[in-house]
Formats: sequence, structure tokens, C-alpha cells
Amino acid sequence: MTDNLSPADTAKLAAAERAVSFVQDGMRLGLGTGSTAAWMVRCLGRRVRDEGLQIVGVPTSEHTAVLARAEGIEIVTLEEAGWLDLTIDGADEFDGDLNLIKGGGGALLREKIVASASDRMIVIADAGKHVAQLGDFPLPVEVIRFGWQSTRDQIAELLEEFDVARREITLRLRDDVPFVTDEGNYILDLELGQIADPRHLALLLNQIPGTVENGLFIDLCDLAIVGHVDGNVTLVERTEDDDGFDNAV
Ligand code: A5P
Repeated sequence: MTDNLSPADTAKLAAAERAVSFVQDGMRLGLGTGSTAAWMVRCLGRRVRDEGLQIVGVPTSEHTAVLARAEGIEIVTLEEAGWLDLTIDGADEFDGDLNLIKGGGGALLREKIVASASDRMIVIADAGKHVAQLGDFPLPVEVIRFGWQSTRDQIAELLEEFDVARREITLRLRDDVPFVTDEGNYILDLELGQIADPRHLALLLNQIPGTVENGLFIDLCDLAIVGHVDGNVTLVERTEDDDGFDNAV
């Protein structure tokens, strides 16, 4: 599984391995989506086979479900699991408060539902995903197909009120046709450059009719495990201040 890895995959695998060390017998897990999360699913599969680890997983995409089954991980629905002990997922960007942009792989809706139904969320990522301010990575927004142009126009109007560096909105395509999510929706990618107030933007985006969910994950991540190309990892933890607000340490 680990022969001749590229530096990028070495970093992803290192983060994935550390994250999987937090998994204990009997846990109900949220299984993320993306290339880093795929390493996590493989590491988890190895523990299931080698140690007889007893866990069930709720996949955040059809793609992850296929991989998890192939790895011998028992898959259940979120309804069957009821609640999750831990979700491990990748991210497209994370800031010092462990707020995230997710959805580069198009799975943001299930990812956010699963993360918010978990006691704990661990993000695994390479060091390049750590940013001072969110927004360089285009922010994905999942929208209903019906009237998506009108939804896009209302998002454009909303962005006029926000402190962002750019305001470009693109319908995500795959093979020259609109990309359709696992839930049958479209994705609008918002090129914003920098987002001064991601918490406020996340709230207002979801008030626009036709918007299903946005890729800003605010106060959901508890720990980021950052993989490095030399195989080491750094942990960035969210702690709670006296004033009740969370900050990374
Ligand atoms: C999937 O929709 C995303 O949220 C992924 O978690 C994110 O794109 C990270 O993917 P990589 O690990 O492939 O960079």
C-alpha cells in the first residue's frame, strides 16, 4: 500500500495513519471523501483486517462507500448509526480557528451532515491547506437544479455586501456538462480570494432559496492533523476559551 509514494501521498498517508490511531473498538465513524480521506479508509481497513477492529462507518459519498466496502469496513446509514463518535475527513482549506472550506470533491452536503452528527471531527490534510484566511480555494455551494441561475444571481447580490477579494461564480462542470452531486444537485464555485467573515457568509448563503448547503464548515472541526512530506505530522487542536469561544492552539 505504501511503496513508492509521492511526497504528497507520503504527507496524506502520515496524517491518515495518525487519525486512524484515534479509532477505538465499537466506534461509529463518519468516513470522509477525497484523496486524503481515501488513505484514511485504507488505513482503517488494514486495522479491521489485522486487529479485528470492530467499527461501522457512514460514508460521505458513493465513492467512499465503494472503497470502504472493498476494504472490508462495515457500512451503515446515518439513520442506522443514529449518532457518530468520530468523523475523519479531508479539507480544501483550514484556518487558525479550524474553520474549513470543503467540497472540492463535490461531497460537501453529506460531509457536513455527517460531521455535524458526530461527537468529534478530525481533519487530515497536508500543510499546504493551512491558510491565514479562508477563500483562496473556490467556495463550493450546493444548489437545487431548478432555477439555479436565479439562485446564482441572488448569491451574486449577497456577495456585494461582503468583504471578499473577488466575486466570480462558476457552475461546476465535469466533461463539459454540469457536475451533479450524490444528492442530485449542482455546485456553484465561488471565487472569492479572501473571506473576511466566513461565519456570517455561511449563515446568509443558506438563507437563499435554492441553496442547499455551502462548503464553509464553522466550529465543526476539533483537531487538524497536518501531514508533512517527511512523514511527520503536526496536530492543531481547537480549545475553548473562558469566554466560550473556541480557538486553535
Ligand atoms: C470532498 O468534497 C472535499 O470536501 C474533500 O474533503 C476535499 O476536497 C479534500 O480532498 P483532498 O484530500 O483530495 O485534497
